[in-house]
Amino acid sequence: MDFAGEVDGKELDSFNSNGFLVIENFASAEEIRTMMERMNELLESFDCSTTRSIFSTTNQRKTTDDYFFESAENISFFFEEKAFGDDGSLKQPKQLSINKVGHALHDIDPVFKQFCSSAKIAKLLFSLGYKRPSIIQSMYIFKQPGIGGEVVPHQDNSFLYTEPTSCMGLWLALEDASISNGCLWAIPGSHKNGLVRRFIRDEQGVHFDKPSPSYAREDFVPLEVKAGSLVVIHGDLVHQSFENQSTKSRHALSLHGVETDGCVWAVDNWIRRKTAPEPLTVP
Ligand code: FE2
Repeated sequence: MDFAGEVDGKELDSFNSNGFLVIENFASAEEIRTMMERMNELLESFDCSTTRSIFSTTNQRKTTDDYFFESAENISFFFEEKAFGDDGSLKQPKQLSINKVGHALHDIDPVFKQFCSSAKIAKLLFSLGYKRPSIIQSMYIFKQPGIGGEVVPHQDNSFLYTEPTSCMGLWLALEDASISNGCLWAIPGSHKNGLVRRFIRDEQGVHFDKPSPSYAREDFVPLEVKAGSLVVIHGDLVHQSFENQSTKSRHALSLHGVETDGCVWAVDNWIRRKTAPEPLTVP
């Protein structure tokens, strides 16, 4: 479906039933080109010798450090786990070594800010029932050819917890996403079972409060989408993505919104911003 400015009743029913909604042609070719070019500029100016931070969901505790924590209010660069050779040097150019850039592109960078605070993002969240939504984090994800790491099954509410829960994932395909280059997979309807566990930050660093349940691979369906499509993801939906073993990258922009009207940000979330992001306004 194309985006008409806000979700209609049929789309809302589909979202409530599945826990996700694919909106085709959400972003224009021009918007995608502008954001991809801007990321290329940011990468050009990134000095790789300043950090060796890796992003890994299979080894999250080990790879979460001050650089990661400070990224809540910065534009920070995280490498793929398989980016480095045995001697510690990059095996390929930096442009093909980065896992993701985050987590405040939407706040700091004018190009990403323009898209993330656009009327259509606001309209979408208001039409999904939000009263005073705020984008709490943004990530540019590369899913690099050959080394793009897997993201293990999870629920976004685990990481971005409010009381009551309110996280909504907005995942924009900047390139075509297919099974071969590591598209999203989700268990339809799994959001109805509620939040299973939380990701807590305390004096020991970060950890989950419970072990992960085991999910059956056959329960997941692939969400293959064209560039420009937006996948709306309920905060309790179980989803994942596999390694990219193909020769094609799979760039995506992932945003997460939360409700700030009547929902309280948990103080033991990993994101601890000194200044809260501005809520979106009614377009
Ligand atoms: Fe997610």
